[in-house]
Amino acid sequence: MITENLAKALSDQINAEFYSAYLYLAMSAKADDLGYKGLQNWLFVQAQEEMAHATHMYEHLIERGALPSFGAIAAAEDAKELNDVRPIFEKVLSHEEYVTSLINNIASLAMKENDHATYTFISWYVNEQVEEVDVANTLLKKVKLIENNPGQLYDLDTELAARVFINPFPAA
Ligand SMILES: [Fe+2]
Ligand SMILES: [Fe+2]
Repeated sequence: MITENLAKALSDQINAEFYSAYLYLAMSAKADDLGYKGLQNWLFVQAQEEMAHATHMYEHLIERGALPSFGAIAAAEDAKELNDVRPIFEKVLSHEEYVTSLINNIASLAMKENDHATYTFISWYVNEQVEEVDVANTLLKKVKLIENNPGQLYDLDTELAARVFINPFPAA
């Protein structure tokens, strides 16, 4: 059985993943409002991934015999203040860096508690966060290069429209 400390940390992470989904949905709506339909899609797919992370963690907890807790999810109203593509990607990057620190803390705790199953479970997320931060960084750099060129921004938006959600954890 999973320790109380780790169960609490994973419950908090379920909440953080739902908050991430909430934040990405809010940014997605804002992108739509700004007229960036491709960015709306990209952020919406991002929100779907975060919900898949939350339910995956829920499954790990119940499989390990823990009873997860479900506290309030924080508001994501500040996404309304993101008035262009660049501030949106700055927010994506800083948020993913923050989530990386949360995941790393869980990995450290799993190590400390000698919980090999949770350590293995959370290792997937350690790798996932490397990718998340890299993608956010790459897109932010690209936006900085082209932000004064509406034609190129339009092309980037078209590129972002092509992203489709692939469930990282298809039912076994
Ligand atoms: Fe996530
Ligand atoms: Fe994420």
